[in-house]
Amino acid sequence: MGKKTEFLYLSEEDMIRAGVLDSARCIDVEEEIFALLGKDDYRMGGDKYNAHGMFVKFPKESNNPGMPLDGPDRRFLAMPGYLGGRFHIAGEKWYGSNINNPSIGLPRSVLMIMLNNVETGEPVALMSGNLVSSVRTGCVPGVGVRHLANPDAAVCTCIGAGPVSKSCFEAIRLEAKQLKEVVIYDLLTEKAEAWAKSITEKYGLKAWAATSLEEAVRAGDIISVAASSVKPVIMQNDWLKKGSLIIFTGRCSIDEEYFSSAKIFWDNPKMHDVYYDEHLALPENERFINGIGVQIYRMTYEGKLPPLIDQTGLGEVICGAKPGRTSKDDRICFVAGGMVIWDLGWSWEILQNAKKMGLGQTLKLWDSPYLA
Ligand SMILES: NC(=O)c1ccc[n+]([C@@H]2O[C@H](COP(=O)([O-])OP(=O)(O)OC[C@H]3O[C@@H](n4cnc5c(N)ncnc54)[C@H](O)[C@@H]3O)[C@@H](O)[C@H]2O)c1
Repeated sequence: MGKKTEFLYLSEEDMIRAGVLDSARCIDVEEEIFALLGKDDYRMGGDKYNAHGMFVKFPKESNNPGMPLDGPDRRFLAMPGYLGGRFHIAGEKWYGSNINNPSIGLPRSVLMIMLNNVETGEPVALMSGNLVSSVRTGCVPGVGVRHLANPDAAVCTCIGAGPVSKSCFEAIRLEAKQLKEVVIYDLLTEKAEAWAKSITEKYGLKAWAATSLEEAVRAGDIISVAASSVKPVIMQNDWLKKGSLIIFTGRCSIDEEYFSSAKIFWDNPKMHDVYYDEHLALPENERFINGIGVQIYRMTYEGKLPPLIDQTGLGEVICGAKPGRTSKDDRICFVAGGMVIWDLGWSWEILQNAKKMGLGQTLKLWDSPYLA
């Protein structure tokens, strides 16, 4: 007789009851994950153990009936990893994405997370991943603000007024203890205005919609960029204040002079080094076009900045291995490209809450494995 295997299934409603929307707790958990990253106590996929994930993309045209065709946000992505420390868990985030989904009442991407026993590989939990992913994406900038912003930062600028930008703001708001004003810039001004109004109503903060990117950036002590790539977000060095912190959650470029004088911190330089290798494998005219932080990759390629692998990760700052902000006047850029280990840690934490609360459904894999 072999071993019985069961695992917990958690729907989105279960995840909410178990606290997935608790940004304050998530910031602490993500900070812990950064510390594990700083100690190399994690693994992701690929030869260098640091690949973001593996995409399934589709052709522009095909004679095969049923073959999906390429289009905006049309992809599948598998993101496997292992996270150490108290988490000690393996798992994967897996999602499919299609820009047409909202027209049929679905989010653009539909995400699931599977957690697995590190020793046996058995499933431990299968859970809805949309809120894990969006909350952790927002909370990483929160960790960035905790460690890299000036404590008296009073104005937060948000570029983009979509769900990711809102999630980033929720965490930044919790960490920027002296925050008094919020400036929003979106290509769709009415979206920025509606969000500004709701911030004032909810938090009593002064909030307004800027009419240009320049006006928004010039105002910010903390600038959070999470716009989609409808139109590239391009800034100029002299728009960014002394002492400012800019966080790239989405794509953004600034003229080179900025990066030559500012301090750059990465979520994980090793992962960006893998992306960099992937760019080098492309034809020259296709390199360094898509991706968060690609402009810095190009400057590295041209010898204007040190190799990515030698640049600083926030985890190293949190572990005390490398300095972070050393002066009130430092201008800092924090690039947060997204990693599965953030999802693994936050979903593991929610799983512990769900177990204590008796949430979810236990599913059986087998009573006794046929092949054992
Ligand atoms: N780093 C990560 O972990 C991570 C995870 C998820 C998403 N993202 C990024 O976040 C971005 C935003 O995601 P979302 O779901 O909120 O997208 P969304 O499309 O729902 O909203 C994005 C908003 O950005 C605005 N916008 C587009 N170009 C702009 C520009 N040049 N200037 C100002 N506003 C502009 C759009 O009008 C829209 O309101 C994605 O494109 C992705 O790159 C990053």
